Amino acid sequence: MLQDIKSLQEEIGSIIDKLDSQEKLDAFRLEYLVKKGKIQALFDRMKEVPKEDKPLVGKELNVLRKGTEAKYKEIEESFTKTKKSSPTLDLTLPGRRSTKGTVHPVLQTMNEMVKIFQDLGFAVAEGPEIETEFYNFDALNFPPNHPARDLQDTFFIDSDGDDRLLLRTHTSPVQIRVMQNLEPPIRCIMPGRVYRNESINARSLAEFHQIEGLYIDKNVSLADLKSTLITFARKIYGEDSKFRFRPHFFPFTEPSAELDISCFLCKGEGCRVCKYTGWLEILGCGMVHPNVLRAGGIDPEVYSGYAFGCGIERITMLRTGINDIRFFYDNDVRVLGQF
Ligand code: PHE
Repeated sequence: MLQDIKSLQEEIGSIIDKLDSQEKLDAFRLEYLVKKGKIQALFDRMKEVPKEDKPLVGKELNVLRKGTEAKYKEIEESFTKTKKSSPTLDLTLPGRRSTKGTVHPVLQTMNEMVKIFQDLGFAVAEGPEIETEFYNFDALNFPPNHPARDLQDTFFIDSDGDDRLLLRTHTSPVQIRVMQNLEPPIRCIMPGRVYRNESINARSLAEFHQIEGLYIDKNVSLADLKSTLITFARKIYGEDSKFRFRPHFFPFTEPSAELDISCFLCKGEGCRVCKYTGWLEILGCGMVHPNVLRAGGIDPEVYSGYAFGCGIERITMLRTGINDIRFFYDNDVRVLGQF
């Protein structure tokens, strides 16, 4: 019996220092320390031991059990301790990189256009996005029954009184506000957001951006308009781009024109993007109508001026090659982050 105790002690001694995981420790307990374990099995054999040997054998067995239990506890504690002190945050790991934002391509174009006109001596002015029918239409010489006033084109806002409120459909109402507030000579650009009740597709949105220009002084002529706009367009599209002015109609300018750039894709040959004309429209312009000058409090007998307005998304599409206007507002950084 004493021999069996000794060999069990040796067996335990040879494995107890190798219990380096919780699983191994659990297996050890099940083999040696539970009621059906190997140590208890020896206790069960006490009844076979002759009476005179019982004290010695009992003592040896108790030493074995107590010693093994103590060692078991010690190992178990060392596990929970290392678990507690093991850091959940590994300060040596490299940090997560935060992504760097970029300026939205539409805003980039807008900033660039503003800079070009500032260099040409234009100041920047802004007006409200919620306008009155007077500033958006009447003062700009739109006749009372003009189709643009139609609910189908304009977002009206429920309001009392004769002068209805609406979301401005262009930046031209800022022309009137500028004329009312400044004395000529006036040289201003007016960037901002505009709204139209359009169906949304690859080429148009209900909400987009325009930049308006206004120049009023004595003896301003169509030649001034052409030279300023060509200078601007060359800076934006490159010195060797080709342009043309095409007669058009706007109620607030007379004469009126649209400025076209030769199609950057087909170089004027004709393709799907330019609808086989070889040209792409980039802005509307003209000499300010005398009725508009009057509405702004300026005497058309003394002063004349030119105005222009262009959509910023359209120009950004031409420059970036983004062929669907909706990409600008899907907010997918894989698209927007490229520019
Ligand atoms: N307001 C016009 C538009 O939205 C553009 C324009 C501005 C035309 C100024 C001529 C003069 O289409």
